[in-house]
Formats: sequence, structure tokens, C-alpha cells
Amino acid sequence: MPTILQLSDLHVEPRGRLAFGRCDSAGLLESIRPWLVQAAEKVDAVVVTGDIGCDGNEDAYRIVKDVFTGLSVPVRMIPGNHDRRVGIEAVLGDFIEGRLEAVPGRQDQLLDIEGARIVLLDTLQPGKHWGEVPDAVLDRLEVLLDEAAAQAKPAIVFTHHTPLHCGMGVMDEDFGNRKRFLSILAKHPSVRLATGHMHRAIVQSAGATLIATAPSVACPIAIDLTPKGGDEFRLETPGFALHHWKAEPEGVAAGWTTFFGLIPVQTSFAGPFRFKDVVNPTE
Ligand SMILES: [Fe+2]
Ligand SMILES: [Fe+2]
Repeated sequence: MPTILQLSDLHVEPRGRLAFGRCDSAGLLESIRPWLVQAAEKVDAVVVTGDIGCDGNEDAYRIVKDVFTGLSVPVRMIPGNHDRRVGIEAVLGDFIEGRLEAVPGRQDQLLDIEGARIVLLDTLQPGKHWGEVPDAVLDRLEVLLDEAAAQAKPAIVFTHHTPLHCGMGVMDEDFGNRKRFLSILAKHPSVRLATGHMHRAIVQSAGATLIATAPSVACPIAIDLTPKGGDEFRLETPGFALHHWKAEPEGVAAGWTTFFGLIPVQTSFAGPFRFKDVVNPTE
């Protein structure tokens, strides 16, 4: 049964520069490489859901490339609001394959692995902090999920941005085409939506659709359910999500189980610090 490891929000900066002035995200990512090599051996694919860098810097992407190259399973990456597609293309192109090409230039992808369909949607809107999925991409998503259902094949959709609000005011933003996106997922309640961007393990439901948001590798967010909440982080332990499809005996139920875990590296838990000097690249 398929198992997918998800990492999100690496926020890697070039060597010598701290993410948001506080976090050695390059050193942090490099320190998890031994764990990542071993973890990849027990899954069918590794997915990185955006905010790979902090401002699209290609030196940062080269550090990411080194850490994710040579794993034993396919690795796929989609951009977040802190990324630049052109930079990802130039440095991390090995991790973008099976493009949907529904909208030229976007990095939407399909990865069919043994026993599962993985759809990766690019929600980046250059210059903006929030995401969208264009109609042309949703048209393709609808077909891909219908096909998977017709073949009784488990399907999972990955995005950087998450379409629901969660109560942390600063992070509760627009999501373009939210209603149509959720209505397509609603037709397939066994499909899991796996997101990032929130820097915290979160589970939400939209009708029968379950949305699992992976914790971040860098800068876990301070939970603050106020209008000003969502603008601070601590140097907590990096985390991951693991999505595993399991069919219950006798056909009682079948679906995705999502585990959240911590990556065993030393961190200080210092903070909270502000997400300052936030960059959403405009190209
Ligand atoms: Fe992020
Ligand atoms: Fe983000």
C-alpha cells in the first residue's frame, strides 16, 4: 500500500544568511539529510510542498538539490509563495516531472506510482502571500480524480497553500477558486488534500474532505488564535507528514491515514520571533 513522505516549508537561505533573521535553515536542512536518506527507504515517494527557499535564491536551491539528490524513491517539489518558478526550474528541475501543462509555465504535476495517483498543484501567485488554482488546472484535476476513481485507485492532492481559514488572523487569507476546488474534492471524499504553508500540523475538514497540513521543517509557527496571530515562530523541532493508504479487512473502509512526526535534530525552541522581511517574489 502506498506511503508518501511530505516535507514542507524548508525556507532555505544561502549559507551565512538566516531565515527571517533567526533561523539557520540551510544548516538545519543539511542536518536532516541522514534521517531523510533512511526515511525515504521506507516510502514510495517524497513530496516537498513549497516555500523551498525564502526568496527564490538559486544558491539556496542548490543546497536543497544536494540534500534531496540520490534518494531511493521519486522526489517531487511544488512552489510556495516564497519561491520563484524560474529559480526552481533552473536548479531543481530534476524534481519536476509529469507536468500537467494545463497552464503553461506552472509547475502542476502528476505522479502515478504503484497503487496511487499523486497530483501536485502549483498554487503560487507571484507577489502574493496567498494561493490559487486556475480553472484550467481544476478542469484537469477533475479528469484525473475521475479517472482514479474509475480505476479504484487511491488519490492524493498536494498543494502549498491550504484553502481553509484556521483562526490565526494573519494567515487567514484568500485562496483563488477555493469553492470550485473544494467542490471537485467533495465528489471524491476518499481523496486526501495535503498542504503546507501554515508551519504547523493541522487537520481540517471541508464536508467529507479531510485536509492535512504538514508541519514545517523551518520556523514552526506560534499558535495564536487572534486577529494578529500567525506572525511569529519558534526554533522548534522540524516535522514531517506521512500519508499511508490502508484498506481495512472485509472492505469495511479504505482511506488515507496521515501521521505527523518530528525529525530528530537538536533545536533550541527559542522565540517567539517575528516573520520579518517577508518576501513574496514577483516573478
Ligand atoms: Fe512557509
Ligand atoms: Fe507559504
